[in-house]
Amino acid sequence: MKYDLVKEGFTEFYASLGKISKKLPVFYNPAKEFDRDLSVLFLLATKKKKVLDLLAASGARGLRLAKEAGAKVWFNDINKEAVKLIKKNVKLNGIKPLDITNKRADELLVTTKEKFDFIDIDPFGSPITYVYQAIPRLEKNGILAVTATDTAPLFGVYPWTCFRKYGSFPLKVNFGHELGLRILTKAVIEIAAKQNVSLKPIFAHATQHYYRVYFQSRRGYVKDVLQNIGFVYYCEKCKQRFATKFEMHEKCKCKNKLSFAGPLFVGNLWDKDLIKKMIKPTKKLSIDVLKQKHKKFLEILLGEAEVNLPFFYETRELIKEEKINEFVEKLKNKGYLACRSHISPKGFKTNYKKLKFKKN
Ligand SMILES: C[S@@+](CC[C@H](N)C(=O)[O-])C[C@H]1O[C@@H](n2cnc3c(N)ncnc32)[C@H](O)[C@@H]1O
Ligand SMILES: [Zn+2]
Repeated sequence: MKYDLVKEGFTEFYASLGKISKKLPVFYNPAKEFDRDLSVLFLLATKKKKVLDLLAASGARGLRLAKEAGAKVWFNDINKEAVKLIKKNVKLNGIKPLDITNKRADELLVTTKEKFDFIDIDPFGSPITYVYQAIPRLEKNGILAVTATDTAPLFGVYPWTCFRKYGSFPLKVNFGHELGLRILTKAVIEIAAKQNVSLKPIFAHATQHYYRVYFQSRRGYVKDVLQNIGFVYYCEKCKQRFATKFEMHEKCKCKNKLSFAGPLFVGNLWDKDLIKKMIKPTKKLSIDVLKQKHKKFLEILLGEAEVNLPFFYETRELIKEEKINEFVEKLKNKGYLACRSHISPKGFKTNYKKLKFKKN
């Protein structure tokens, strides 16, 4: 099989640069480079070392975690071609892997006795089916990172598919990706809770094509995370939105019937100190280049961690459309919490309650 040599971050590897599809001999999506960059920064900040790249494809992520963040990686993929390619890529980079296996993910998880500091679940579609068996393979305080590419159900295009897979109803609204990200978060937390393991989200991001959440695990303390499961309500008429934990609401203050999304995670998706570490320059110049590239994005996430609200507004919803940065500053100067959203260029979060929305 002939592959292209690609470069991501400071790692070179062979991959298929064909049309992105499940039908590629070995799957590779160059658009996820950004996501893989962030996982390198995450690993550098958390200093986690023993990694399981459960659905590794070309090994893109695991190779980068090994080369750029000093991880010891176990690569696995069900596809024989992928395993051959991983072997070639590992050699190319002079990396000593923990192992390279050609197993079904669930089979590997139930047969191995190994435990990992970081398990990455990056499948086609939903990660949910792999989560239950991954939990017992996490070391104490281990990290579970999941990617979901089935954003259409989570975003509200197929609400019943979302309910079937994640046990929650989404909402197809302008801030629907935030709700989808939180529905995914809730579903993963619930699975771990059944094993008396608390999974606290400490880093997350969403785009139209994929959602990704990183959780820190801890035995017990499950109620602490479950208490942050609730609902986000939205009034299509007056555009009000609010979050609750376990109360149910039917009518908006304006008397209109409320729509809702949930149950979903309404707590904080980000650990501020972790993001600060991810932004902070290090002595290694090469890593700084990577950080500079993503600094703006990480700064927005830090703002979101500080404001800690499970939904955002967009300036184009307002009667007087504002310039996003000036508007956020204006709200802050008035003493309100305010930040931008990483999901939408016109998105902002605030605890200011008197926003004036355009009518439908
Ligand atoms: C989205 S790709 C992984 C992308 C990769 N992590 C990256 O960053 O490029 C999903 C991979 O999962 C593999 N896969 C699908 N079902 C699997 C299963 N049940 N067990 C193990 N691997 C599986 C596929 O062969 C494919 O290579
Ligand atoms: Zn209303």
